[in-house]
Order: sequence, then structure tokens, then C-alpha cells
Amino acid sequence: MKITGDHGAVLRLEDVHRTYGTGPEAVRALRGVNVEFARGTFTAVMGPSGSGKSTLLQCGAGLDRPDRGRVVLDGTDLAGLDETRLTVLRRRQLGFVFQAFNLVGSLTAEQNVGLPLRLAGRRPDRAEVHRALAQVGLGDRTGHLPSQLSGGQQQRVAIARALITRPRVLFADEPTGALDSTSSRDVLTLLRDLVDREGQSTVMVTHDPVAAAHADRVVILADGRIVDDLSHPTAQHVAERMTALETAA
Ligand SMILES: Nc1ncnc2c1ncn2[C@@H]1O[C@H](COP(=O)(O)OP(=O)(O)OP(=O)(O)O)[C@@H](O)[C@H]1O
Ligand SMILES: [Mg+2]
Repeated sequence: MKITGDHGAVLRLEDVHRTYGTGPEAVRALRGVNVEFARGTFTAVMGPSGSGKSTLLQCGAGLDRPDRGRVVLDGTDLAGLDETRLTVLRRRQLGFVFQAFNLVGSLTAEQNVGLPLRLAGRRPDRAEVHRALAQVGLGDRTGHLPSQLSGGQQQRVAIARALITRPRVLFADEPTGALDSTSSRDVLTLLRDLVDREGQSTVMVTHDPVAAAHADRVVILADGRIVDDLSHPTAQHVAERMTALETAA
């Protein structure tokens, strides 16, 4: 179903609720989240552990379905799609990067990057795959296996893989969580460049105020609700807000 009137928002969550389990064991991971992500911008999602950041990302990315509320991607209400259509949309229109890279260990960088195209039923075009790897600074590592690459290089392969289908939104859940500070900076600079040069809409979960300061905006979650929304964040400002939140809790 197409919905109009999105005013430049590439993704919109409307009153999204997500509860895991039932009865006394139930965990209300999201309790009415309303948020819009503007096209071509970079948003960081922060909040204490268990506040619902990954759940928000998974619902936004169609990997999980809300119990209530709507997720609208470029005018399409994800709730209106059956599993097959949702899978197709996810493969073609969304990209994901995880903390643990999740590369296939037996495949080269080039084969890993080509994988989403194969899953979408296309034969990967070698030049296109090489261009994607060159774009993340790994044009000379196309034949390497993940085990022959550093953590930062593996994450850049994962980013190239996520971008090969030219997704409308790139989602990253703590993409620098497993990296040292130098590799983290490289990955964050790369994400920032992709937004600035390609207009790549990006939503990234992070615990690190320095990482969040690379974004245009920081959305802060606590107990499944958005409690703060900062524009043009500085690391210091973000750190202060997070400390205030933890003190209040
Ligand atoms: N599949 C699941 N089954 C049951 N409970 C879950 C599930 N996924 C998440 N939860 C619960 O939902 C809440 C929110 O989890 P979520 O993973 O979104 O938090 P988070 O903010 O990403 O935390 P972290 O910073 O530790 O990654 C937590 O209390 C968590 O235990
Ligand atoms: Mg998480």
C-alpha cells in the first residue's frame, strides 16, 4: 500500500510497540515509538543496554514485526506485506551491518559482496562488486578471505556487501562495537562519507558518544521510548545526556 505525504522521510515509525513473551515474563521492548528519518541523513540511536535500540532497528528494517503501530518505508507500509514480499523488499531495498561483521568465512571479499545480488537472483557483475570494494578502500583485497583481513577491513567488506543493492536505508547495529579506536574511526569516516557523497540514508545504533558525533542527529531511547532527540551532536553533549539519563535511572 502506498501512502503519500512523507515530506522527505525515507522511514517512519508510528506508535510502534513490540513486546516479547506473554504474561508476567513479558518484556515491553518498545512502548510507542514515533520517529522519522529524513532521506540522505545519518542518525545515531543511543540508550542504555536493554532500552530497545536493536528492537527499533529490527522493526524499522522489517526483520521483526511490531505488535502495534506502523513502519513506513518510502511510502510502503511494511505491515501490508506478506513474508515473501517483505523478504524481497529487505533484500533489495535495505542494507544491514552488524557488530560481528557476519561475513561468510569460506567466501572471499568479492564473493561476500556479491552474495546479496545472488540472493536477489542476479549474477553479480564483477566490475560492480570491485567498485563497491574500492569505494570502501579495499580494491586490493578482493580475493582475501575474512580470516585474512583485519576487523576494520572485515567490517568495510560488510558495508560494501550491505550497499551493493543500493539500499534506501543502511542500518548498522553497533558497527564499531568490536573494533579498536583506529578501525572504528575508519568505519565511521566511511559511513559519514557515504552519507555526504552518495546521500546514503543511514541509521546506526551505538554506545559510543564519539561514534554518535559522526551522525547528523542522535535519538536516545530509554525503556522502549524516545526520550531525547539531538541535532548536530557533539561527543561531549551526547556523553552528558547519557550520563544524566543513567543517573536518573
Ligand atoms: N527475542 C527476544 N525475546 C525476548 N526478549 C527480548 C528479545 N529481544 C530483545 N528482548 C528484550 O527486549 C529488551 C530490548 O532489547 P534490545 O535488544 O532492543 O535492547 P538494546 O537497547 O539493543 O540493548 P543492548 O545495548 O544491550 O544491545 C531487552 O529487555 C531484551 O531482553
Ligand atoms: Mg542491541
